[in-house]
Amino acid sequence: MSDSLPLIVANHKANLDYSDFDIWINSVGPKVSEFQGTVILCPSAPFLSEAWLLAVSQGWKYELGAQDISKFDVGAYTGEVAALQLSGTCSYVIIGHSERRNNFGETDEILEQKVQLAKKANLKTIFCVQDQDTKIPEGVEIVAYEPIFAIGTGNPDTPDNAMDIAKKIKAKGDYTVLYGGSVNRENVKHFIKTGVIDGVLIGTASLNAQEFIDILHSIY
Ligand code: PGA
Repeated sequence: MSDSLPLIVANHKANLDYSDFDIWINSVGPKVSEFQGTVILCPSAPFLSEAWLLAVSQGWKYELGAQDISKFDVGAYTGEVAALQLSGTCSYVIIGHSERRNNFGETDEILEQKVQLAKKANLKTIFCVQDQDTKIPEGVEIVAYEPIFAIGTGNPDTPDNAMDIAKKIKAKGDYTVLYGGSVNRENVKHFIKTGVIDGVLIGTASLNAQEFIDILHSIY
């Protein structure tokens, strides 16, 4: 089934401790149903179960995504989280974020392996690219254009340029295309209203519950 657009993805990275996240999810969870698109929360892995249990018990309407998966299948890989272990709680996984490529040496080959494992576990991949020339593995449905200069810098790409790159990515395949990099409550609507960009991937601005709620409200 295809997702209703726009797609708004919160990527918490390795931020927030348990009590911060508990406050965050209890603020954001009830508000998500006011939004017409699809909200995908990607908290740190230890908090996925709580977010899932709350969604089930409270009827909150967000989807869950993992920020990464192991390049290995289930088995004797201490410290890893395998795709199949996530399939009960998550429907999505972010693969190929520049922070993974740069800090953890993830190559095109590793990323391809991860996309295959995600597919096997029925997780939809949100695959991050730096531009239209980044290799996109077979099986990817959602592509996030995330230029390095814009990530965590407060210096987003322009909506026009992001739209141009989104068009080039769409010319390569039938992808849902997101923009990510310094999206906040002021600029989010400019990316969405291009009509070409199908959603946004938000890091820093998603950490503050009120700002994230404002983002959901400011799109319509
Ligand atoms: P940012 O991060 O919103 O803090 O720029 C985006 C991302 O890394 O996905």
